[in-house]
Amino acid sequence: MSVLDLFRLDGRVAVVTGASSGLGVAFAQALAEAGADVVLGARRIDRLEETRRLVEDAGRRAVAMRTDVADPDDCQRLVDAAMLELGRVDVLVNNAGVGTAVPATRESPEEFRRVIEVNLNGCYWMAQACGRVMRPGSSIINISSVLGLTTAGLPQAAYASSKAALIGLTRDLAQQWTGRKGIRVNALAPGFFASEMTEQYPPGYLDSMQQRIPAGRQGEAAELAAALVFLASDAGGYVTGQTLAVDGGLTIT
Ligand SMILES: NC(=O)c1ccc[n+]([C@@H]2O[C@H](COP(=O)([O-])OP(=O)(O)OC[C@H]3O[C@@H](n4cnc5c(N)ncnc54)[C@H](OP(=O)(O)O)[C@@H]3O)[C@@H](O)[C@H]2O)c1
Repeated sequence: MSVLDLFRLDGRVAVVTGASSGLGVAFAQALAEAGADVVLGARRIDRLEETRRLVEDAGRRAVAMRTDVADPDDCQRLVDAAMLELGRVDVLVNNAGVGTAVPATRESPEEFRRVIEVNLNGCYWMAQACGRVMRPGSSIINISSVLGLTTAGLPQAAYASSKAALIGLTRDLAQQWTGRKGIRVNALAPGFFASEMTEQYPPGYLDSMQQRIPAGRQGEAAELAAALVFLASDAGGYVTGQTLAVDGGLTIT
């Protein structure tokens, strides 16, 4: 067996939330290319159908279901569908997220709560539902952000809090489940990658951030998906409770 075989996911089933746009699409496609069947959740079902086609074009099976991760019942239904149609869940990618930037004195309780509901609570509901059925050797990857580790110039109290809390959730689930259930739990902290979320930034913001990134550029989705496949597969078999920044060096500046 070569070292590259450790990255294969043949015969495994992965659940990806937020698979209707941006990084979630790249994650679903990469997991399928590595050999996994993929269960796709998000609110825009028409967009999930496009991702389904990418998974099937890679020769794998796909299940798509409308899911609002802020609703624990929706999360349970997605995992139930995975078990019913594909028989197992080996990988969970908690990718669904919303980005906001609101000055703290003007942010309403509803705005703040909504970000926490989706970015933090949604990951926990998904992890709980998956953790109940996952077998030893499984892997959960929470998509945090460099905003969970540092600041980046915009007023992002809700987003930064949710992403920092997700790193704490990652550590705690890893210590609860790695030994007892054989489930590894890690986080990715992406820097800047083009997506619908980054299209919302103020004009000039991304250019200004670029000067702070040692690599001198934004990341490519494939570079993040490669790190995801590492953590999802046996290649990352001795890695748990960690947060891996894939950020061109942003968090060291
Ligand atoms: N792009 C970056 O530079 C970057 C950097 C750091 C971290 N991240 C993180 O990466 C993840 C993906 O973001 P992205 O950049 O790919 O942005 P995006 O294109 O806006 O994708 C966000 C995804 O989350 C889904 N989503 C939002 N609310 C949801 C809900 N309540 N229930 C289910 N799905 C929901 C959206 O689908 P629907 O609208 O169809 O529900 C969409 O598929 C997020 O967690 C984000 O915080 C991104």
